[in-house]
Amino acid sequence: MAIKFYKDKKIFHLYNKNISYVFSVNEMNILLHHYYGKRIKDVYSLLNKKEEINFQFYKDNEFKNDVKYYDNLTEVEVGSYLRLDLKPASFKIKCKYNSLTDFRYVSHSYKNHNEYEDYYPHLRNLSNADEVTIKLKDAYRNIYLYITYRIFNDVDVISKSVRIENKTRNDIYVNKAMSFTLDMPFTNQNLIHFPGTWAFERRYIKEKLNYGNKVLYSLEGRSSHYENPFFIICNADADEYHGEAYSFNIIYSGNFKNEIYVSSLNKIRINVGINDESLEYKLKRGDDLILPEVISSYSFKGINNLSINNHNLIKNHILLENKKFPLLYNSWEGMGMDFNDESIKKLINISKEMGIGLFVLDDGWFSTRNDDKHGLGDWWINKDKIDLKEISELTHKNGLKFGIWIEPECVNIDTKLYKEHEDYIISSKQLEKRFSRNQLVLDFSCLDVVNHVFDSIYNSLKDVKIDYIKYDMNRYLGDICSSFTPQGEIFYKYTLGVYKFMYKLKQNFKDLIFENCCSGGGRFDLGMLYFSPLIWTSDNTNPIDRTFIQYGTSFAYPLTSISAHVSKADGTYSSKADVAFFGSFGYELDLKTLKDEDKKLLKEYNELYKKYHYEVINNGTLYRINNPFVDSYSIMMSYSKEIDVGFILISLIKDIDQNINIKFEMELDKPYYLINGKLYKREHLKNSGLIIDDIKKIGETKLIKIEGREKYEED
Ligand code: GLA
Repeated sequence: MAIKFYKDKKIFHLYNKNISYVFSVNEMNILLHHYYGKRIKDVYSLLNKKEEINFQFYKDNEFKNDVKYYDNLTEVEVGSYLRLDLKPASFKIKCKYNSLTDFRYVSHSYKNHNEYEDYYPHLRNLSNADEVTIKLKDAYRNIYLYITYRIFNDVDVISKSVRIENKTRNDIYVNKAMSFTLDMPFTNQNLIHFPGTWAFERRYIKEKLNYGNKVLYSLEGRSSHYENPFFIICNADADEYHGEAYSFNIIYSGNFKNEIYVSSLNKIRINVGINDESLEYKLKRGDDLILPEVISSYSFKGINNLSINNHNLIKNHILLENKKFPLLYNSWEGMGMDFNDESIKKLINISKEMGIGLFVLDDGWFSTRNDDKHGLGDWWINKDKIDLKEISELTHKNGLKFGIWIEPECVNIDTKLYKEHEDYIISSKQLEKRFSRNQLVLDFSCLDVVNHVFDSIYNSLKDVKIDYIKYDMNRYLGDICSSFTPQGEIFYKYTLGVYKFMYKLKQNFKDLIFENCCSGGGRFDLGMLYFSPLIWTSDNTNPIDRTFIQYGTSFAYPLTSISAHVSKADGTYSSKADVAFFGSFGYELDLKTLKDEDKKLLKEYNELYKKYHYEVINNGTLYRINNPFVDSYSIMMSYSKEIDVGFILISLIKDIDQNINIKFEMELDKPYYLINGKLYKREHLKNSGLIIDDIKKIGETKLIKIEGREKYEED
């Protein structure tokens, strides 16, 4: 891996053993984009491309063809605004007289990268990355842009981060700022993206890219259930194991915007950044603004390989650590808010008997919180209902860890918090209040509000030993007005306020296991993963629906982050446990209702969890074998090369009348594999496949162990 600068032609080549990314500086100091794809050696030949000429300049009484300025045909690294580049701009910055932007190369440096504050999610562990920071200046005004590019040797990923600096004498206003612009010369591409809704997040949608600007975005102040920030561009004939594919994702949890523009001349421009809807971010003279980092991955071995790259990037460079989690029990789906000391003590006893390692008390433990109309925002412990300190002590005495639920960003109006600080909400006194889940949003764009809420939660919990926090957020932002922040800055500053809160939590509760939740999976994004290795994937725990939701989520995010619990939803316990096993496994039901035979069955899963889950699911490699959005079933495998054990999960989402034939198209290292007591040659699994003939009915599942073998010997 390296970054090479060819001085003579001012070419930058970022490469590792699999990928190359090439751009150069032309005579007008414009950054031209040349290549992103499979590793190449000869970068000079990229410059031989015949220049397409569309504009002239007038000199010495004649028109000359202008090949130096970029235009709507040329591929660039930064798209200008209101100049000749007619594709969606990378930056719009309003100054006193105009908003034109046209950034030109000034210099580059291998050291002075854009620096994020610790609370602002960004890539970590950069010892195996190389980087270069390009300094650019606007052609008309003293506005500077710094773009840090990175290439990694452990993953096939390019990252970019952008900082804008105002060195003019006046205030400027950032109206659009895309962290990653990529011009692609390809035609016949497909887009894969993951829209959804509450309780059905991240559906797989594949569509042909056509002329025009396709915009994927969120405008609700969270990355949202409706569209995940992650997307893929691939060859029309690419599949899981063949063909070229690119993915993009932003390390951010607020409003994002992905523009995928195809010009009538078949040029594609990708822009990835924060959503510019309502954005008007003021930079005073001398101020700067750093924007979220964006990552892009490339694979020439199909889409599954792209997912492996993204999973490894998250494990190696986003998560704080990739720990083995204790087996979790959460009270929500079983108990709701209807619990007391006695019922919780009973649950702790059964949890211990079941071999659970972490007991989580969800919503309902504070102030007047007995339903979702009351108490949110008043964080004192409701001691008449539950003695949290005693419960935590009892949990620890039984050898379990103890966890709690919080939702800091919202408030019910019957609370002391709301009565004393009505100005703390997002909305305005002039507007009628609009509630969702009976609650309003607190103005986290203001640091005083963040600190006030933090202190009240911290003071309430500081004497209780807390090992885990589930951080929830149950509504969108709307009625965007603030007593503290200009409207054009609210969304962005709100997101940073959330990060500041989370950062404080991590600082003040040591060794905290942190889980994120947003009405299920409304914030399944890289910004959240920076703080919380676990994300509650969806409020829908039905195993058939979960098969789809977890399948869609797996394209961008590793199984270890996909929280999946055995609940009281429809389906047998074995099918619920099979599907949950392919995520961060746990329980969420009233354990008192389990019959002896259910307990016996689930204890077997718990043993399997303790023996294999960390190696095979957390640290294993995921292989998607088919697509449930196309077929009547879903098959996935997660395999650990370290211990040579894997599991295959098959879930039926429709009745079928034929057998299932599992073809192993992925690269298999071992010559033999032991499955269900039978040894198979690798070639057999690849060519003829493994036949499964004993599940046929919708909702049936199977979890099959697979072990690699060097020699032909059965156990
Ligand atoms: C949301 C979450 C649930 C649960 C409830 C508590 O709906 O998604 O898991 O925590 O809030 O009110």
